[in-house]
Amino acid sequence: MAEQGHGHGHHGHGGQMTPEQQMQMIQQEIRLAKNLGQIKYKIIVMSGKGGVGKSTVAANIAETLQAMGYKTGILDADIHGPNIPKMLGIDMLEEGFNQYQFEAFKAIIEDEFAKKDLTQEEQQQLIEDKKEEYKQSLFPVVTPSGLKVMSMAFLIDSLDRPIIWRGPQKTGAIKQLIADSNWGPLDFLVIDNPPGTGDEPLTVLQTIPDADLVLMVTTPNVVSQEDVLKCVKMVELMNIEKIGLIENMAYYTCPHCNEKLHIFGEGNGKKFAEEMEITYLGDLPIEESVSNAPNKEATISVLDPSDEVSKRFREIVEDIKKEFLE
Ligand SMILES: Nc1ncnc2c1ncn2[C@@H]1O[C@H](COP(=O)(O)OP(=O)(O)OP(=O)(O)O)[C@@H](O)[C@H]1O
Ligand SMILES: [Mg+2]
Repeated sequence: MAEQGHGHGHHGHGGQMTPEQQMQMIQQEIRLAKNLGQIKYKIIVMSGKGGVGKSTVAANIAETLQAMGYKTGILDADIHGPNIPKMLGIDMLEEGFNQYQFEAFKAIIEDEFAKKDLTQEEQQQLIEDKKEEYKQSLFPVVTPSGLKVMSMAFLIDSLDRPIIWRGPQKTGAIKQLIADSNWGPLDFLVIDNPPGTGDEPLTVLQTIPDADLVLMVTTPNVVSQEDVLKCVKMVELMNIEKIGLIENMAYYTCPHCNEKLHIFGEGNGKKFAEEMEITYLGDLPIEESVSNAPNKEATISVLDPSDEVSKRFREIVEDIKKEFLE
C-alpha cells in the first residue's frame, strides 16, 4: 500500500506533476466517481477527540442498517489505528486479504463464463479485459451478516507494528482506500473517520464532498465538546449542512436500583446541539456489553438485539432516516 501510494505526495506541489502522474490522478478520480456513484447514502462518523466511541458507533450503525435489510458497507478510514475489523470479528491481514482478492476476482470470471459460451480465445480475452477493469479494485470483506468492510488493517502484515506515514503518503493512502474500494451497489456506506480536525479527517471530507450526513460523536464532558465545536465548523466550511450529534457514554444504569447515573452531567449534549444548531440524535449509556464487544464476532447490535444499547441504535437509525434522508 505504502509503495503503491508513493507518488501521490507530489501532487499539488506547484503543478510539478509529470504527465504520467496527471494521468494516474485522473484515473483515480474516475474510479472514485464510479465506486462512490453506486452508493445511495454516505454517512461520515467524526469526533473532535479520540476515544469517545466513534468506531463503536460507526460499527453498530452499520450493523443495524444491514440487519434492517439495507445493503451496507463500512469504510475504516483510520489508517493508524484501524480497529473496525476487530470490532466486527474479522481477523484478516495482508496475506489473507490478497488470497481473498484472488478468490473474489475468480468468482467474477466464473460468473462471466457461466453467462455465455466462449471459445478458449474469447475466455482468455475476457480474463485480460477483467484484469484491466479490476486492476486497482479492493474487494471489501463480507461479514456473516452481509456487511461489507474495508480497512487499512487488511493491507498490512501486522497489527502491532506502527506504519510510519509521512504527511503526503497519508493523504494518498486514505484517498486510495476510498477511490479503490469496489463496493458494488450499496444503500449505505458508513465511514469511520480518524479523530480531530487534522489532515486525515479533512482528506476524507474532501474526497467525499457529497456526504449525506456527518455524525458527530461526543462524550458529555465540556472539554470534549469544545473539540466537537471545531469539528462542526470544519464540516460546515466544507458545505456539508446535515450534521447530527450522538452523545456517547452519557450515563450508567445502576445494576442494583436501575437509576440512571449521569456521571459527567445531564443534558449537555442536547444543549450543545441546540447552541450549534445541529440535530441532537440522542444519548447512549456506558455499558459493559459495549466495551466487551470488540472481543466478539460482531457488535452488540447483532449479538443481542434486546440490549438497551442495541435498541438505542435502532432508534437512532430511524431518526437518521426521518431527519435526514426522507
Ligand atoms: N457506550 C459505551 N459503553 C462502554 N464502552 C464503550 C462505549 N462506547 C465506547 N466504548 C469503549 O471505549 C473504547 C473507545 O471506543 P472507540 O474505539 O469506539 O472510540 P474511538 O472514538 O473510535 O477511538 P479512536 O479515536 O481511538 O479511534 C473502546 O474500548 C470501546 O469498546
Ligand atoms: Mg476509532
